[in-house]
Amino acid sequence: MVDLNTIASLCKRRGFIFQSSEIYGGLGSTWDYGPLGVELKNNLKALWWKSMVYERPDIEGLDAAILMHPEVWRTSGHVTGFKDLLVDCKSCKKRFRYDLLKEKKCPECKGELTEPRAFNLMFKTFMGPVESSAGEVYLRPETAQGIFVNFKNILACSRKKLPFGVAQIGKAFRNEITTGNFNFRSREFEQMELEYFSHPDESDKWFKYWVNERFLWYKKYGIKEENIRLREHGKEELAHYAKSCYDIEFLFPMGWSELEGIAHRTDFDLKQHSNKSKANLSFFDEETKKDIIPHVIEPSGGVDRAVLAFLINAYSAEKVRGEKRVVLALNRNLAPVKAAVLPLLKNKPEVVGFAKKIYEGLRGDYKVAYDDTASIGRLYRRQDEIGTLYCITIDVESLTDKKVTVRDRDTMKQERISVDSLKGYINARVK
Ligand code: GAP
Repeated sequence: MVDLNTIASLCKRRGFIFQSSEIYGGLGSTWDYGPLGVELKNNLKALWWKSMVYERPDIEGLDAAILMHPEVWRTSGHVTGFKDLLVDCKSCKKRFRYDLLKEKKCPECKGELTEPRAFNLMFKTFMGPVESSAGEVYLRPETAQGIFVNFKNILACSRKKLPFGVAQIGKAFRNEITTGNFNFRSREFEQMELEYFSHPDESDKWFKYWVNERFLWYKKYGIKEENIRLREHGKEELAHYAKSCYDIEFLFPMGWSELEGIAHRTDFDLKQHSNKSKANLSFFDEETKKDIIPHVIEPSGGVDRAVLAFLINAYSAEKVRGEKRVVLALNRNLAPVKAAVLPLLKNKPEVVGFAKKIYEGLRGDYKVAYDDTASIGRLYRRQDEIGTLYCITIDVESLTDKKVTVRDRDTMKQERISVDSLKGYINARVK
């Protein structure tokens, strides 16, 4: 399997992911997505949104604000419960998460550790002109609460019946202490969360359903069987709001780690917010003529972690005719660049002009690259390394027979296609 340094250096060199504020020495565990990274990330989010919101009649979307009333976080239990136990090394002064330690000694210098102390992971800031505790607000550590506090609004405008869900993609922030492993655990990241509300009696059925659905989703977009597994949480691991939870784990270079969690949150959040805000967050059940508080199943995935997993999963380095060929075999819906136009003779103005016309004609619906700055072997290697699906080469003959050569990334097979049918040919294979 590829190691994280190789992936991180490819990401930087080719414009997938950069360290935030790099010219100032970098800001720890925050990342910027470059020209290719933003495409991959947008493609990933669009696929999730399509599978949740567009393909299903029972799910609506939401985009809630990052800043919320501070009472939300007191009521949700995050102010008191969203904590890691930390220990400090008395010798080297480094800080570690207690639950991740393999032994009761400093993992770096073997020094003695302090007693564990609780540390809240939420970032605080101030709202309004004065920096006082009255204006204290939190950057949300999960997007989910935006859905719970809007439950009534969404129910009223969508007139949904149980079971139904609300999907949201957005930023979340956690002041993580144990970082490293590239962008696996970041302080600013994006989540794709679904809160699926059902009758309490049906919630266990929906829990199983969503564990299976989400597992299949990753496989549908190319995660290999041997790289993905499900793991049930032990009781001691469960978050303060969960009755049960499964992690979808991916085989990252540092070992099996969480990619997405599917939690049975029961009626915990709606009940808490109902009690505190006095808003009626129940659903009127026509059958029993009673108000019920629905139970919630929550598939919660990390966008950044999924980007990393898909990159690792797609990476391969092979020898082709004695030369190293690095390929990102990303699923066609995820690949950031769908086609690249490559003129074979860059010093023949007619060929370059013809190639540029083809490039202009293809652009618009997805990202298409144009490159004439190296030999064809080099140009192919550059495109393979970023996962470009089709390379289109234009040669002198193209000028007379009005045909171009299209090379498939995965099979490396080449086909001669007429220019008139080129757009249709590419569209049919990348959309
Ligand atoms: N609302 C439930 C919730 O937030 P979580 O297991 O803490 O549950 C869900 O987070 C997902 O968000 C994780 O499976 C992971 O993919 C992603 N995630 C959590 N913390 C992260 C971090 N510090 N950096 C990157 N992704 C993170």
